Amino acid sequence: MICKLIDFKIMGDERSSLIALEENNNTPFDIKRVYYIFGTKSGVRRGFHAHKDLKQIAICVSASCKFHLDDGKNKNEILPDSPNQGLLIEGLIWREMYDFSPDCVLMVVASEYYDNDDYIKDYETFLKELE
Ligand code: TYD
Repeated sequence: MICKLIDFKIMGDERSSLIALEENNNTPFDIKRVYYIFGTKSGVRRGFHAHKDLKQIAICVSASCKFHLDDGKNKNEILPDSPNQGLLIEGLIWREMYDFSPDCVLMVVASEYYDNDDYIKDYETFLKELE
């Protein structure tokens, strides 16, 4: 598998489940940014980029979506469909997200602030960057 899945410990009690993310305790990097994607329309495919330096953990905190991951040699399809699983994406990985269920909330924890210059949005440039 190209990217690793991290299992987060579920805490809580008879009322609810609860997961806490703590910088460098159960995340392997300093957290600078958290964003989430929700209300994704049917049939949408997004992503279509790699990052030069960014590390991310993607968690479907509600429902599910699929990830297409590509390291230039191998390709994987991954379905992180549990709020206690995080998909760790680091290094040069081309990613696309698709098959969002209507109630999907995809939360992403990231190691850097948003930086458009860190994106590689062209697949051929991505392959060249790997050489
Ligand atoms: P984009 O990275 O293209 O989303 P995806 O890769 O999931 O398809 O981001 C969509 C828009 O949101 C784009 O205009 C940039 C903006 N954006 C921010 O301002 N901050 C962020 O942290 C992110 C992820 C996106």
